[in-house]
Amino acid sequence: MHRHDASAEVLTQAVVRYAIDRIQLDPAPLDGPRTPDELRAMAGNTVTPGGIGGLEALRVFGDVLAPACISVDHPRFLAFVPAAPTEASILFDLVVGASSVYAGSWLEGGGAVFAENEALRWIADLAGMPSQAGGAFVSGGTAGNLSALIAARWKWRHDSDGANDRTRGLVIASSGAHSSIVQAGLAMDVDVVSVPADEAGRLHGAALRTTIDELAEPDRVRLFAVVATSGTTNAGMIDDLAGVADVCEERSLWLHVDGAYGGAGLAAPSVRSLFDGIERADSFIVDPHKWLFAPFDCCALLYREPRVARAAHTQRAAYLEVLQDDDDWNPSDYAHHLSRRARGLPLWFSLATHGTDAYAEAVETTLRVAHSGADLIRTSEHCELVLEPELSVVVFRRTGWDAERYREWSDEQLAAQEAFVVPTSWRGETVLRYCIVNPLTTVDDIAMVIDSLR
Ligand SMILES: Cc1ncc(COP(=O)(O)O)c(C=O)c1O
Repeated sequence: MHRHDASAEVLTQAVVRYAIDRIQLDPAPLDGPRTPDELRAMAGNTVTPGGIGGLEALRVFGDVLAPACISVDHPRFLAFVPAAPTEASILFDLVVGASSVYAGSWLEGGGAVFAENEALRWIADLAGMPSQAGGAFVSGGTAGNLSALIAARWKWRHDSDGANDRTRGLVIASSGAHSSIVQAGLAMDVDVVSVPADEAGRLHGAALRTTIDELAEPDRVRLFAVVATSGTTNAGMIDDLAGVADVCEERSLWLHVDGAYGGAGLAAPSVRSLFDGIERADSFIVDPHKWLFAPFDCCALLYREPRVARAAHTQRAAYLEVLQDDDDWNPSDYAHHLSRRARGLPLWFSLATHGTDAYAEAVETTLRVAHSGADLIRTSEHCELVLEPELSVVVFRRTGWDAERYREWSDEQLAAQEAFVVPTSWRGETVLRYCIVNPLTTVDDIAMVIDSLR
């Protein structure tokens, strides 16, 4: 199974050729989902005692399975949060897979961890975090938020000298925060209290202060962290980070900033000032697999004081003792994980290849297209903006349409392989939303979508 013989060489060439061809599709087809029954009928039995052979498995993947996955990197994949990995980052993802690096510890993966930390440093510098800031790449924003909040709770309990060791904690987040915050609360058995956001879905310092003041005293004692969002998923709005940071400082609360989607905007000079205050965060995440052109799965998790995260997350076991050298940077110590692939390397390679200026320009390009699309909506007769966009999410309505009509239109667009845009809701109303993270998405692509809504 592990020997590289002539037939393995044929398979190697075929698999690498497949990968190269997929990278070079311009664009890849949108494709679309199929039911398990359809796939069973089309793919046949693939996992068998004798194996079906690599070439046949590759054929099944290429002919049947891959077309049943929507291409998130298609320029008119505008739903949820798309992805648009650079060619360099995708190629290096292949190298990471081929290299068998264990990137949980410095002892085993130091070279890879060094490069990952270079990429983390770029992000920390964009955010203005201090020189000691650091962390690790985790699988996604959900894992990053959970790990950051675990570190925050550890500090709260540690600072209380054991008084809070059995106290259920409490976190405050805005009503615009991502669902993964409530999910982290469930996983940690922590309450999450929601602060009313403004009409655009932003959290402000004043509202946060009022919510804290209105907590019953026993609840205020349980409060250990505030989550602000720098780029809400539904509307792309950035919370009043400086105002929130003031309150956190005043009340000695951990400030976690969730920039999973919008944190990439730090690289764009045109919107950088919207993030002012982020430099005061105790922890911060951004997902390069969203708007920083890296493949899944890649979330950069940064701490102002990494030693706190290390105290919270380091796993202790006899067989791991050899790894616990205080001077070593073990990524496994900074999140809720142990074994990990060097998932930051594709980002690092692409950054090293293209330079950080290219990243700034690519983020600016997506912002320009998102905002030009908003102009088209503003001047159209059949659509109107629900909100003035801040980043690259645009929320709008087709006047006169209800939820069912939006759904039908969305299904028709995908079936015709035109675009993938899905409805969302805003203050109880079904509306449309597009999110652009792909520098290959053009204003013409958005015009096509808007025209199809007539
Ligand atoms: C603001 C925000 N936080 C967290 C997440 C969760 O990220 P992931 O899907 O990588 O777990 C998302 C996903 O869209 C997000 O937009």
